[in-house]
Amino acid sequence: MEKIVSLCKRRGFIFPGSEIYGGLANSWDYGPLGVELKNNIKQEWWKRFVHQRTDVVGIDSALIMNPKVWEASGHLSNFSDPLVECPKDHQRFRADQIEITDNGFQLCPSCGEILGPEKQFNLMFKTFIGPSEEQANIAYFRPETAQGMFVDFKNVLETTRKRLPFGIAQIGKSFRNEITPGNFIFRTREFEQMEIEYFIAEKDWKAYFEHWLDEMKRWLKDLGIAEEKLHYDDIPEGERAHYSQRTVDIEYDFPFGKKELYGLAYRTDFDLKNHMEKSGEDLRYTDPESGEEFLPHVIEPTWGVDRSVLAALVEAYHEEEAPTAEKGETEARVVLKFPKWLAPVKVAILPLSKKENLSSFAKEIHRDLVQEFVCEYDETQSIGKRYRRQDEIGTPYCVTVDFESLEDKAVTVRDRDTMQQERIAIAELKAYLREKLS
Ligand code: GAP
Repeated sequence: MEKIVSLCKRRGFIFPGSEIYGGLANSWDYGPLGVELKNNIKQEWWKRFVHQRTDVVGIDSALIMNPKVWEASGHLSNFSDPLVECPKDHQRFRADQIEITDNGFQLCPSCGEILGPEKQFNLMFKTFIGPSEEQANIAYFRPETAQGMFVDFKNVLETTRKRLPFGIAQIGKSFRNEITPGNFIFRTREFEQMEIEYFIAEKDWKAYFEHWLDEMKRWLKDLGIAEEKLHYDDIPEGERAHYSQRTVDIEYDFPFGKKELYGLAYRTDFDLKNHMEKSGEDLRYTDPESGEEFLPHVIEPTWGVDRSVLAALVEAYHEEEAPTAEKGETEARVVLKFPKWLAPVKVAILPLSKKENLSSFAKEIHRDLVQEFVCEYDETQSIGKRYRRQDEIGTPYCVTVDFESLEDKAVTVRDRDTMQQERIAIAELKAYLREKLS
């Protein structure tokens, strides 16, 4: 993990948040490469699950919703973690993460004092709407994007005229006042989710649960996650979220242990039923064939964006011996072997010299390639160092422009993984890269 965190900072993937003010614990900013990586994940997800399906539509709902939403959803009464506090140094911990001693105590991990009694700590992030900080103006940042889909269910149904089964998808930020955030971007208080609420008739829930489990497996394969590092954990009753009748946690072997990456839940009609009761709006669906009116049930596949980024980085990170420019010698290289669609930069254009004629020739190639691919142009340092840099950020192809290029109108294309080099005519370069990157 330390190597990944350091690479992320050094190369501009992820920086500590508010760093010039000494940081803010467990807050992280995505840098120029991190935002490209994260956007690639979100765009691919949207393309696959919204654009390429006829049964899913997207929304983008408000982050701060009417507080009654959270009463109806059960988050105000149930969305809590068990908290224990040290009476001596006042540090707080999640009770379920602290061992119980043989004589039934829990001890402070910092000072060894016996921890106080367990209390429930609500994870909702509170704020006030408007200028006065009064009880009546309390609002909450959403702890999941899901409620937007339930609250907009009727509007979506009426405007799209979708029939069951159909889903509503959303990507966006969620906020939780976690007691113990940590492990880099794994658990933070502000994070992004990609969620689908898939509305079905109750009798079909088992089949659609399996369907979405398969879809999640297919997604993980395309994200480049090794199958043997994934675990599917059926959560027993009593440990599931308050709304769920079946939950499968998809876990991944992170460097700090086996932890939840994504989740799949059967939420029954829990949410629509409660919103119908509390809002007084009829949220029932009318079957167009039978005319029967009923509340749809829901299968919810949910993906954490930041955990996707972290798992993809962990999987892609490789250290290996690579040949140097001097024949017969090798040196260590760090390379991020992202699947090509995921790489933040697809092509690097590297002129062998900064001399004006070569530089302007290479810049012309760059101008042409950026029309289609995310590219970097780099003419500083030795070519060996520039290759290493591109390997470290996972760029699949480096295009080297040399003095011969001015004569033969061709360039050398280097493959990140095999490090093989091929001479390609500039006239064919775009088509060549298009095919390789597809
Ligand atoms: N709507 C259902 C729901 O929110 P969840 O298991 O609480 O379920 C879904 O969260 C996903 O969101 C998790 O599988 C994880 O990927 C991500 N996630 C949850 N809490 C997180 C946190 N504190 N930091 C980063 N990601 C988080």
